[in-house]
Amino acid sequence: MLENLQKLVKSGEKIAMLTCYDATFAKLLELAGMDILLVGDSLGMVLQGAENTLNVSMHHMTYHTKMVKNGAPNTLIMADMPIGSYEQDNEAAYKNALWLIKSGAHIVKFEGGGKRVETARYLVERGIPVCAHLGFTPQSVNQLGGYKIQGKTEESAEQILKDASAMSEAGASFVLLEMVPASLAKKITASISAPTIGIGAGVDCSGQVLVLQDLLGIYTGAASKKVEDFKRPRFVRNFLQDSAADGKPSVQAAVKAYVKAVKDKAFPAPDHSY
Ligand code: KIV
Repeated sequence: MLENLQKLVKSGEKIAMLTCYDATFAKLLELAGMDILLVGDSLGMVLQGAENTLNVSMHHMTYHTKMVKNGAPNTLIMADMPIGSYEQDNEAAYKNALWLIKSGAHIVKFEGGGKRVETARYLVERGIPVCAHLGFTPQSVNQLGGYKIQGKTEESAEQILKDASAMSEAGASFVLLEMVPASLAKKITASISAPTIGIGAGVDCSGQVLVLQDLLGIYTGAASKKVEDFKRPRFVRNFLQDSAADGKPSVQAAVKAYVKAVKDKAFPAPDHSY
């Protein structure tokens, strides 16, 4: 499956990826032609109602990965390694990554560059495909001082580029770029061999990802927060609303429209980018 996607990228086609946490949606997304289903630790926010991803555990991740695998046996599944599951040492990272693979994931994703490059190499050498998550890394939300665009200064842009190159050289199959200037994502995509997947990173990445509940316009912030205080991130487009405007309002139509918009390079538009 991974090889097919790599061929698809080489042919110039964009990768459409969406988060997914259960079998019903997994089946629907597989039918819609989604290339990758991401069992993201965003489930801490969208399923559990928390303010961030910091309380997500390996048990949560493996449980939801199994559900997604049940619903979409023929689609590539990427699973997030939650905070605390990969930072301490490479052996623990390997053990936890293997647990996700045995639960149905084809590839694992974890956050950060720097020291994490050796973790990526360690896993890849042992046969576990890896996606590196760079730019805004939600598990570091407290260190980063909130949900902020990364790579805005020359120095931080250079660091993200260096991390992306190092991850690609260490064997990462994909580099996911979250909330970085579109110009930086374009430069990274052109200079590394691993395909890039963007979220708030402009149209020039090799593929795009969104959180399913954002695409449907049904996420309104943490359970403890008021709906009226929720501010939709710039990079989100409500495809369900747009499918209603097209006269075919349905979840199925919305996700199909997302796949098409990604493949046609119609999403993200400049309005969704930094
Ligand atoms: O957990 C998640 O949903 C993610 C996306 C924001 C890319 O990592």
